[in-house]
Amino acid sequence: MTNGWRLVGILSFLVAAMAAGLVVSHGGDVEGIRVAIRATARTSLLLFVMAFTASALAELIPGAATRWQRRNRRYLGVSFAVSHFIHLGAILALASVDQALFWKLTNISTILLAGTAYLFIAAMAATSFNRTAAWLGPRKWRLLHLVGGWYIWISFAVAVGKRVPLDRFYWPMAALVLAAAIVRLIAMLRRGRRPVAISAP
Ligand code: HEM
Repeated sequence: MTNGWRLVGILSFLVAAMAAGLVVSHGGDVEGIRVAIRATARTSLLLFVMAFTASALAELIPGAATRWQRRNRRYLGVSFAVSHFIHLGAILALASVDQALFWKLTNISTILLAGTAYLFIAAMAATSFNRTAAWLGPRKWRLLHLVGGWYIWISFAVAVGKRVPLDRFYWPMAALVLAAAIVRLIAMLRRGRRPVAISAP
């Protein structure tokens, strides 16, 4: 099994290659950019859920797979950040290629709320190195990653939830988002009603 920063490298390469491949296969047109936006949102969701549930799953269902997941939660989290910044890159490409369509698909309140999620993602990724985590200190690190994790979870719940009435395809994505919160909450309750605290890296 691949681990650590090598895992980040491989996952980042795969997401970047997928996004570039989708844009190129559509001849670089707007539809290709939209497909890349949607595809990177999905890779981000998978990676986020893996990082977000890592400690809880290792406690609830101990085994080789969940132990691997918990050991690599920092690297899964950084890979999520890379995937989601590729999502942002594709969004910026759409905004520059077709401004009218961009404003049809989004609005200023979404940009402000989702923009805040990006601030959390950047801060959490920046403090995912031994040196920066030590600089922040374990208490602030835990608080940032706890609040940030749930803020990002809410962002996914909103982004997926508003699309559920449009297409059945979003049901499994919504189930995944909901399952992630349930797993975290069950683990939290089992720990005796203490808040879920991810230990510092
Ligand atoms: C300023 C920030 C953001 C903007 C402007 C933005 C914009 C968009 C747009 C325009 C789409 C639809 C693309 C299309 O249908 O062609 C989309 C899809 C999506 N975005 Fe973002 N987004 C932002 C941040 C985020 C964040 C922070 C999250 C979650 C943490 C997120 C999750 C999603 C999801 C789940 C989809 C649906 C993907 C699908 O159809 O399967 N986005 N975004």
